[in-house]
Order: sequence, then C-alpha cells, then structure tokens
Amino acid sequence: MRFPFRAVIAAAVALLPAAAVPLAGPATPAAANGVIIGGTPTSTDQEPWVVALSSRSRFGAARSGQFCGGVAVGPRTVVTAAHCFGREALGVSDWRQLSDLRVIEGRTDLTGEAGEELRLSDVWVNPGFDASTNAGDVAVITLDQALPSGAAIGMAQPSDTALYQDGTQAEVYGWGDTTGRGDYADSLRAAPVTVFADTTCEKAYPGSSDGTYVRATMMCAGAPAGGHDACQGDSGGPLVVAGRLVGLVSWGSGCAQAAYPGVYTRVSAVAALVAQHM
Ligand code: ARG
Repeated sequence: MRFPFRAVIAAAVALLPAAAVPLAGPATPAAANGVIIGGTPTSTDQEPWVVALSSRSRFGAARSGQFCGGVAVGPRTVVTAAHCFGREALGVSDWRQLSDLRVIEGRTDLTGEAGEELRLSDVWVNPGFDASTNAGDVAVITLDQALPSGAAIGMAQPSDTALYQDGTQAEVYGWGDTTGRGDYADSLRAAPVTVFADTTCEKAYPGSSDGTYVRATMMCAGAPAGGHDACQGDSGGPLVVAGRLVGLVSWGSGCAQAAYPGVYTRVSAVAALVAQHM
C-alpha cells in the first residue's frame, strides 16, 4: 500500500501557525528573481479593490495575520479562492470557528494599522470546487459593513472575450511569497504577466498532483521566460486587464518558472455565480 506522503506533509504544514496556505504541494524553490515574484511595490490607494484575508490566531500577528488575497467587487462583497476556506488553509472545517477571521482593506503595509478590519457575515464557497483539479476555485464573502465607496472593481463577463486573448498584458497583485522560498511580502506588490492561450495552459498542465488545467473555469498567465508570477499567499487575489477583474490567483507548479504559468480562476466564467451570491 502506498503511504499518502503528500497528505501527511499537508497536514503537518497545516499545523504550523505561521504557514501560509500551501495549496500546491511542495514548495519547489523557483528560479525567481523578484517579487509577488518579479514585481514592484504598489498601494491600496491605487488599487483599493485589493484586500487581505487574515487570522492572527492561525497565521501570526506579524503581517496582520494575512494568508490569502481577495477582491472587492461590490460595497459588501469580496471574492476570493475557494481553497482559502478549505480545512487545509484554515485548520477548521467551518470558517465561523475561526473567530478572528477578517477582511482587511486599505492596508498597503501589513505591519501597519492603516485601513479597516472588517468582519465576515457570510461566506459562500463554490460547492463545485474540485480540489483535485482545482476547477471552480471561487468563494464569495459578504461583509458585515460596507467598504469605502469606490473600492470595488468590475468583473469580466462572458462577452469580454477580448480580455482573455493570447498575449494580453495583465497585472497580478498580492502580499505573497516573493522568492518561492517563503519570503512573504509586508507590503503590496504587483507583477506584469501575459495571458496565455488555453492550448498553452493545457500543455503545461495536462494533469499532476498540483492540478489539471480545465478551460471552462481557468485561465493561465505568466512570463514567456519566467520570472513574473503570483506565488503562495497570493491566492484569491486579483488578475486585472484594462481595469477589469479577469482572474483570481489559484494555483501553479512552483512559482515563476517559464514552463509553469500561474493558473487563475476565470472570472468571466464564474461572474454569474458570484452575482447570485451578492
Ligand atoms: N495556491 C497558492 C496560494 O494559496 C497560489 C499559488 C499560485 N502559484 C503560482 N505559481 N501562480 O496562495
């Protein structure tokens, strides 16, 4: 009988209080040269729709307890990744058991106290999320009070096919790992990435323990030579094209490797589902 080694590692990692949601198995040191990876500093003043999910009791107080990203899409609505609400991430089966779970808005630097920490009044985790492929990786958070006005970004819709063309320039945002070695950012970063065609994504991810590319609910983006990507801790955060939310950071094999682009939840494919839960 094969010993489920990966599951043991995952369980062990989940017990570490400061572990930041490793969805995608072993933290392969990426050939990475920068940040979010290959990014530059930005601020929540410029991108007010980028929010952080936090729990100090589970992830430590140093960086305000940040463990995933999220995106404001309505006055009281934040979208994020379904896997951010999984047991492996939260350590409990129901988010309500984590009493200090918060959405933090307006805090570029997580070591500071700017902005607000908002309580969650409801969470809808896509029941169609498939943890083996990672398909349908979306959740909708309802906040118990409104975000500052003007914080929301518009979601790409099924008719917005131009935003998903091969070669389209996009930006990804987050406070995640900047090197692939567990160096989490204190301050918000953005990295430029290129949207790839579904056929390219399918060739990169025909199916492995990390996941399988499913074009109905996914898209992928990266840098042709690697070096720019999202990484652990960025999950649930935004991928933006022309001022529209096109993707949510979901998964990948390692980070910023040329052969393994970042995989995102395809927002145009889940926008209707999200709208039903707003
Ligand atoms: N699953 C990761 C998280 O929970 C995100 C990984 C994204 N990886 C990538 N190479 N783009 O934060």
